[in-house]
Amino acid sequence: MTNKRDTIICHAGRHPHENHGVVNPPVYHASTITFPTMEDFETRDGLPYQSAKYGRSGTPTTFAFEEAITALHQGFRTVAYPSGLAAITGTLLTLLENGDHLLMVDTAYAPTRKRLCGWLLARTGIETTFYDPAIGAGIRDLIQPNTKVVYLESPGSLTFEMQDVPAIAGVCRATGVSTVIDNTWSSPHLFQPLTHGVDFVIEAATKYVIGHSDAMLGTSTVATKKHYQALKSAANSIGFSAAPDDCYLAARGLRTLSVRLERHQKNALRVAEWLLGQSQIERVLYPALPDDPGHELWKRDHSGASGLFGVVLKPAAKSAVAAMLDGLELFGMGASWGGFESLVIPAYPAPLRTATKWPYEGPTVRLHIGLEDPDDLIKDLKAGLDRFESARS
Ligand SMILES: Cc1ncc(COP(=O)(O)O)c(C=O)c1O
Repeated sequence: MTNKRDTIICHAGRHPHENHGVVNPPVYHASTITFPTMEDFETRDGLPYQSAKYGRSGTPTTFAFEEAITALHQGFRTVAYPSGLAAITGTLLTLLENGDHLLMVDTAYAPTRKRLCGWLLARTGIETTFYDPAIGAGIRDLIQPNTKVVYLESPGSLTFEMQDVPAIAGVCRATGVSTVIDNTWSSPHLFQPLTHGVDFVIEAATKYVIGHSDAMLGTSTVATKKHYQALKSAANSIGFSAAPDDCYLAARGLRTLSVRLERHQKNALRVAEWLLGQSQIERVLYPALPDDPGHELWKRDHSGASGLFGVVLKPAAKSAVAAMLDGLELFGMGASWGGFESLVIPAYPAPLRTATKWPYEGPTVRLHIGLEDPDDLIKDLKAGLDRFESARS
């Protein structure tokens, strides 16, 4: 098989001649799977790839999608989950038990931080310490005898700080601590953390992989058989089962991932550079910009940038932000991202940081730059910033 990413995106996981020549792997629905003999039934081990003993473990549609994600990450295997958050939960519950300690990046996706660490893991007797995303190899000083996992997300949610992934992974390998990364911003196309020493790579496939804002799905990909068996066994035990229709949509969306991301990046850079010149803007939080503090790390490890970034506005009342956002015509206001369309939300990073202090007074908004004409997006934002300015003064 080639190592050219565009070719892998087009071909991985598709086996037309095993499916009557059909190009895109079809949807197999199943709960019950039957076997011709008792021996067949009893020897199917429940840790399958191209076969399963019961529908909860997946159908050929699930396996085709998992195979494609695995190929892009150059991993051993992937487990699909019903959402990105389920993939994070399933992975951390595979690795952690009562009495263990987790090192969690301070800039993690809010539900990872609040719902998973703050509620589920806490009530299970798993302690979390949050760490500065800029820590690099200094993570060594925070590792305790009961630390089992270091969790990364790079760039961070809402504030987009880059992490030195190979440095952190190197320390963890040397100390026997597992690493897990939320790679959703990059998608499997722009960054492959397993090749930098990370053990588990999570994608909220809901975002760029599906790419059309119409389904929920998550994945966790690993480099070894041992990790796969542990992950799959935990997913089966908890009862996580990704819907075949959603795996079909994800495998379908995946085929255009590279061309979509190229355009997301081009449009996002255009809009981000325009924003830098506007008087209402304090900072643009986007590692693809040359002046961003994470730019060098991003350039070193990533083959491109996606279309999601943050903007810090000059100090103003909430009503001024509402005046800006409420009147936008092309930017929908919605909690997700990664689809073909532009989105905006107000963001509040300060209360979500404990290891670091968010330094800005002004309000923050998160923009997802879609595939529309960037001139139209800029026009929409310009009118929004004018409304912000009038409401401020
Ligand atoms: C960075 C990141 N990780 C994970 C998730 C969770 O994915 P899902 O919404 O599919 O549960 C999200 C969703 O917004 C996200 O932004």
